[in-house]
Amino acid sequence: MIPVITIDGPGGTGKGSLSLRLKRTLGWFMLDSGALYRALAFSVSERDVSSQDEEGLLEVAQSINVEFLDDGLQSSVLLNGQDISNLIRTEDIGTLASKLAASASIRAVLLQKQRDFLKSPGLVADGRDMGTTVFPDAALKIFLTASIEERSLRRLKQLKEKGITARLARLSKEIAERDSRDSEREESPMRPAQDAEILDTTGLELDEVESLAEKLIETRFGKL
Ligand code: DC
Repeated sequence: MIPVITIDGPGGTGKGSLSLRLKRTLGWFMLDSGALYRALAFSVSERDVSSQDEEGLLEVAQSINVEFLDDGLQSSVLLNGQDISNLIRTEDIGTLASKLAASASIRAVLLQKQRDFLKSPGLVADGRDMGTTVFPDAALKIFLTASIEERSLRRLKQLKEKGITARLARLSKEIAERDSRDSEREESPMRPAQDAEILDTTGLELDEVESLAEKLIETRFGKL
């Protein structure tokens, strides 16, 4: 069986950065499932499909082909060959992604696409329901948390680095709204799997979170 490590949790907990580091250390593949939902949101807004048009939304969901490239220094997200790495990182796209992600039929289309990323020697998959729904048999499941204040500050910093301006209070409100939508939806809500290791990253640097995660990996898979 090809090993999977799942990293779930709300936005701004450092899932993406941790996944990228672990994927590089292990030499495995990576699935940023949030980027898949964001790519869908991006496509839907580009093609001007109404959020009421269920058939149109499903058609877009079926048509998206997302790839993750990583040369060890820089990682990027391609949508049907186009580099959309920065275009999908806005709060508007995040909010639309979260709204579309509440639909059972959209999730069903994206479920298989997500599982198709599983390739030897292994996969690090990050998102909201990687450990509960997409890869329930994963060898190691990590669920990251952090205070809303810290997550908002981290998001603000990330956006600044990408040249996107945002206001902290608004960001905080959007993050809180997104948390509720993602955890209260009926279909595959965000929650830790029963067998997940919960890591609170509040006040921790990425290096510290990485070494905690590596300890968990060594316990499961042996010395790195
Ligand atoms: O992690 P992110 O901010 O890039 O994710 C964007 C949205 O996509 C998130 O608010 C909810 C949705 N999503 C989801 O429903 N399930 C996942 N596994 C990943 C993301």
